[in-house]
Amino acid sequence: MTTFWSWYVTILSLGTIFALTWLIFGTRKGQRQETTEETVGHEFDGIEEYDNPLPKWWFMLFLATIIFALGYLALYPGLGNFKGFLPGYDYLDTEAKTPFATDIQVSDGVRNAGWTGAHQWEKEMAKADAQYGPIFAKYAAMPIEQVAQDEQALKMGGRLFASNCSVCHGSDAKGAYGFPNLTDNDWLYGGEPETIKTTLLKGRQGAMPAQLAAIGEEGIRNVAGYVRSLSGLKNPEGIEVDLAAGQNIFATTCSVCHGADAKGQKAMGAPNLTDKTWLYGSSFAQVQQTLRYGRNGKMPAQEDFLGNDKVHLLAAYVYSLSQEKLEK
Ligand code: HEC
Ligand code: HEC
Repeated sequence: MTTFWSWYVTILSLGTIFALTWLIFGTRKGQRQETTEETVGHEFDGIEEYDNPLPKWWFMLFLATIIFALGYLALYPGLGNFKGFLPGYDYLDTEAKTPFATDIQVSDGVRNAGWTGAHQWEKEMAKADAQYGPIFAKYAAMPIEQVAQDEQALKMGGRLFASNCSVCHGSDAKGAYGFPNLTDNDWLYGGEPETIKTTLLKGRQGAMPAQLAAIGEEGIRNVAGYVRSLSGLKNPEGIEVDLAAGQNIFATTCSVCHGADAKGQKAMGAPNLTDKTWLYGSSFAQVQQTLRYGRNGKMPAQEDFLGNDKVHLLAAYVYSLSQEKLEK
């Protein structure tokens, strides 16, 4: 904060407090001290006001808030650049190894330049990293398959999953509409441990192109019918579907990505269309919707967010979900 704004804040804060103090004492002056039946003389809508002094408890409470405010501003940061007198909010830390954004490096340690919420969070994170970092590092050095056998590692992975992944994939990792089930050993991008880790580190972007412009409503209907038939689904009665025409479109337009046998292609995350699991729903309407407008599921990259070691642990956790229950 520049000196100008520091003074601006300080004068405004203290000025308000002093003005209020003046107001409360000023209005009290000249008041009678005992209660009465007399009114102050004005009336509104049949409501009149007794000419009584402010209740003492109310007056004292008001004074107390003023004293509290002054005490608070003296102890804690609040007045511009003033850091407050409370130790702990501005002190020399000779133990600190890395200065935080708000710290100042001095010759014999790190000067903690006052308290901020961000500062406190950084400190707590650093403490947690120092405490748990070595455990994560230990697992990060082990192959994922082996980590997936370690009970403690899976517990930690489960907690990481709950706080970072369950919003989308569900707390049981069984997924939801548009969010893949991670427990069924059916993979868009592949279920090898290293592939899972790559998915987590780099994220994934599904790219199913919209087909309406290319093949028209009729084409959509036919190929939707054809694709559903691959999973043994009957098409709704009363809707005319030309399966042979659908198969034709599939061979020319869709097989580049989904494969000639429609079993998908993991390199580009094109799903297997014959396995009866559907990311975007299996009804005739939903499949047509997928084809008309395309789909673009996005798995956010975790590399910069969680870092390699936590992702390694998470990869092991995810991997373990779709393996046969490990032998104890
Ligand atoms: C914002 C929602 C969201 C979050 C958070 C999220 N994911 Fe995903 N994830 C997705 C979507 C959507 C896909 C599918 C991408 C696609 O359609 O191509 C996906 C795909 C995946 C896949 C690939 C599945 C396959 O079949 O190949 C894995 C593994 C995965 N996520 C694990 C995780 C883990 C572990 C976390 C926690 C670190 C996580 N995800 C957090 C939305 C999310
Ligand atoms: C450029 C490659 C590409 C082409 C061409 C393509 N798809 Fe896809 N398709 C994908 C990808 C990738 C996804 C997964 C999208 C996602 O994860 O969000 C997908 C998803 C789907 C789904 C959703 C599956 C589910 O589980 O819900 C269906 C159905 C589908 N495609 C059918 C077709 C048909 C039919 C065609 C031809 C008319 C076609 N696709 C053409 C890449 C392609």
